[in-house]
Amino acid sequence: MTKIIKLTQENFTDEDILPLVQIIKNNGTVVFPTETVYGLGGDALSEVAVSKIYGAKGRPTDNPLIVHISNIKQLERIVEEVPEKAKKLMDRFWPGPLTLLFKKKALVPDQITGGLETVAVRMPASPIALRLIELADTPIAAPSANLSGRPSPTKAAHVLLDLDEKVDAIIDGGDCEFGIESTVIDVLNDPPMILRPGSITLEAISETIESVIYDPGLEYGQTTPRSPGQKYLHYAPKGKVLLFIGESNAIAEEIRKKATFLIKEGLKVMILATDENIKFYKEGVIMSLGSRGNPMEISTHLFAMLRKSDDIKADWILVEGISEEGLGVAIMNRLRKASGGRIQMCGEKQ
Ligand code: TXA
Ligand code: MG
Repeated sequence: MTKIIKLTQENFTDEDILPLVQIIKNNGTVVFPTETVYGLGGDALSEVAVSKIYGAKGRPTDNPLIVHISNIKQLERIVEEVPEKAKKLMDRFWPGPLTLLFKKKALVPDQITGGLETVAVRMPASPIALRLIELADTPIAAPSANLSGRPSPTKAAHVLLDLDEKVDAIIDGGDCEFGIESTVIDVLNDPPMILRPGSITLEAISETIESVIYDPGLEYGQTTPRSPGQKYLHYAPKGKVLLFIGESNAIAEEIRKKATFLIKEGLKVMILATDENIKFYKEGVIMSLGSRGNPMEISTHLFAMLRKSDDIKADWILVEGISEEGLGVAIMNRLRKASGGRIQMCGEKQ
């Protein structure tokens, strides 16, 4: 039976958290809210707990997990060394949505790292997550709490749809603030490389360390990405996602044509529009992702919108692409993956 415990980030006590700590100590699994997305947690140093995590998600075993810590002592327990560049980034961005790679110590189970020599670590900002890790007194491994391949959960209701009866407990701590996952960076590489774009942008990181680049493997269809997770189909709702890229007016025009065509064929269409274009659409279920001028708003709602297309049983989800700069890079990374490469270029060559 999966226990569901409702807490608020601003107002909870250790007594609320202790039964969940007990589950972690008994090698069980607890889903908890973070500032990015919900995580499916278990004791990172327990092979039993880690196998349960992979099992519950149906996750390929070569896709490594992020280890979550609540203090620097826990980091020192699991990594060989903390390079200077990592220290600078930790000072600026922890606790928060940045995951760094370190050389792992032998006590970190090989299952967690999918056999790699490096372990990915982050200190989340969510008070509930921090307290759970602190009281459990062990680093907690936690991938996003969705079934493998599905959009990451930003609400406890999403978790329940995917993982009910598959985990011991779910902490319902309300909606996640950022809505997309942490940025994963490899500072062991020279130059430092972003393996997964996320809530913390390359521009923000570049204010702290020099010559940061994106993994060239992130470009769709290019060389193999270095982060194993990036090669799998991801974030997919049940309907087909078609992503429109290009100039904003041209996107609206092409989406309108496509929607008319699909609806004539008898198919159910959902349009994920930006505020700027939403008035152009007349047919289909039309929902706003937010404003092009406010990518944070778009990231917060993105996965919930993709899941909404399941509720309305959309056959097709037509999505407006946005500008690939700043947080837009991470949003478009998720949308490209959700589309499985189904992309329509609009207007003149970009
Ligand atoms: O925001 C987040 O990071 C959320 C919350 C729960 O903290 N977690 C999350 O975990 O997104 P997950 O497992 O869904 O994604 C982890 C990503 C995968 O793309 C994985 O391949 C990559 O991190 N990763 C983990 N360890 C790695 C390593 N040693 N080297 C390269 N990539 C690694
Ligand atoms: Mg995930």
